[in-house]
Amino acid sequence: MIVVFLGPPGSGKGTQARELSQKTGLLHISTGDLLREAVKKGTELGKRAKEYMDRGELVPDGLMVAMIEEVMPPEGGFILDGFPRTVAQALALEEMLQRHGKELSKVVLFEIQEEDVVQRLSGRLTCSNCGAVYHKVYNPPKREGTCDLCGGKLFQREDDREEVARKRFRVYQEQTQPLVEFYKRRNKLISLNARENHRLVSQKLLEVLKDGG
Ligand code: AP5
Repeated sequence: MIVVFLGPPGSGKGTQARELSQKTGLLHISTGDLLREAVKKGTELGKRAKEYMDRGELVPDGLMVAMIEEVMPPEGGFILDGFPRTVAQALALEEMLQRHGKELSKVVLFEIQEEDVVQRLSGRLTCSNCGAVYHKVYNPPKREGTCDLCGGKLFQREDDREEVARKRFRVYQEQTQPLVEFYKRRNKLISLNARENHRLVSQKLLEVLKDGG
């Protein structure tokens, strides 16, 4: 199974992708996590990507497509979390999958409004060591400031500040939303109400993936 998770920043894609990956063994490929790792390591890609990420803008398509090409596994299923994000990326993905004799199974759209997103992002805490994600109110860590899984230090992402979060939401509407029609036309789209609580969203996600929406 090859699944794309589509949706605004903070809609819960990463949280659900990690969980689904643990339950099913599907590989979780998060472009945001890969980029943040590249920034941390100070690679050439990281240096080029950082300025876009800090401004809440999309990293250029060419860089993103090359990155996916590099990490796509030759065998087995995977979840693409945060890719594609433009029509150009979606077309490149189609071409890439075809070349490898693979086919996209489904695209799950996480639907949520701007105000919910801002509330979620302003309370998000991320582990500096393993990347696990918490929320100050909805999913707090057992010990303040410390990751339950690895004991790493939790921090707030720079791009989760309110003005950057709102800009990311606008960028999503302008550049990523056209993918909803794109995948509807290909009969791949399944919509999910991402405002529900964590447990309900996970349950619904498993159901829609099992029966194809
Ligand atoms: P990326 O890291 O992919 O950011 P994003 O898509 O904006 O997604 P987020 O990680 O912000 O949110 P999420 O939907 O995963 O939500 P989460 O599960 O964490 O990308 C960052 C940047 O990289 C981009 O701005 C861009 O510059 C660049 N980039 C990445 N991919 C790119 C691409 N393909 N092309 C170009 N540039 C690219 O949840 C959020 C919070 O809500 C958490 O605190 C969580 O605990 C909480 N939460 C989750 N679910 C629930 C729930 N059901 N109820 C209550 N709270 C919940």
